[in-house]
Amino acid sequence: MNILHIDVSPRQESHSRQLSAAIVERLLRLAPGASISRRDLGADPLPHTAADYAFALSTPATLAAPPKGAVDISEALIREVETADVIVIGTPMYNFTIPSILKAWIDQILRVGRTMKSTPAGKVGMLRDRPVFIGVASGGVFSGERANQPDFLTPYLSLALNSIGLKTLQFLSVQATAFLDGDKAALAREKALAAIDLTVVRELRGVDGWPAVLASAGRPYRGVRPALGRVAPAF
Ligand SMILES: Cc1cc2nc3c(=O)[nH]c(=O)nc-3n(C[C@H](O)[C@H](O)[C@H](O)COP(=O)(O)O)c2cc1C
Repeated sequence: MNILHIDVSPRQESHSRQLSAAIVERLLRLAPGASISRRDLGADPLPHTAADYAFALSTPATLAAPPKGAVDISEALIREVETADVIVIGTPMYNFTIPSILKAWIDQILRVGRTMKSTPAGKVGMLRDRPVFIGVASGGVFSGERANQPDFLTPYLSLALNSIGLKTLQFLSVQATAFLDGDKAALAREKALAAIDLTVVRELRGVDGWPAVLASAGRPYRGVRPALGRVAPAF
């Protein structure tokens, strides 16, 4: 099993990083030999959309025959998604939604003719579905009875991932981080993790590749600042 572990926060000791690391740890309990691919958008931010990429995406003709090199970053990032059996994303909420650096990743991943088809009925995903766990950290509260702000993060990210075929999503959140000191933060994280449902991952045991990959040389994963498994190139 290959886990693609994406972090978004620019802070190394961040709540969303700790939550995503804890989710990865749970997955490794199920599959101790799993390999991990890292995409650390917080530490190595992607460039925002460049002119040649925007040109490539501007018409059906340029999409079909993009200028040389225009979709290279997009292609590399899509391949990371395609080779993952499970994806884990740790992200903060910024101004009611995802940080712009995660949006920059989405802008490279959602590409008509490559990861989704544009049809009269809307976008249809072209990627195989796989479980995606999303750990969200927010300074305030965005869900439940105590919510004091709108949430454009979970509906937007769901729609974006659904549109390329990733439909098996689970959101876990640590909220009100502005008021969490060390002990309270650990408790809030445990509470968030208690909601995780790993059934979908257990079911992966039935798919091709699980036993073979388990037997491969995935390195053990520890801590919240790993550079493990295949380290993705920085762009
Ligand atoms: C630019 C910026 C915008 C933010 N906007 C929100 C927001 O809309 N709602 C909220 O609850 N917290 C907001 N926060 C607080 C963060 O969500 C909070 O500090 C969270 O813990 C950050 O995640 P991290 O600990 O993983 O870095 C914002 C923080 C920053 C830096």
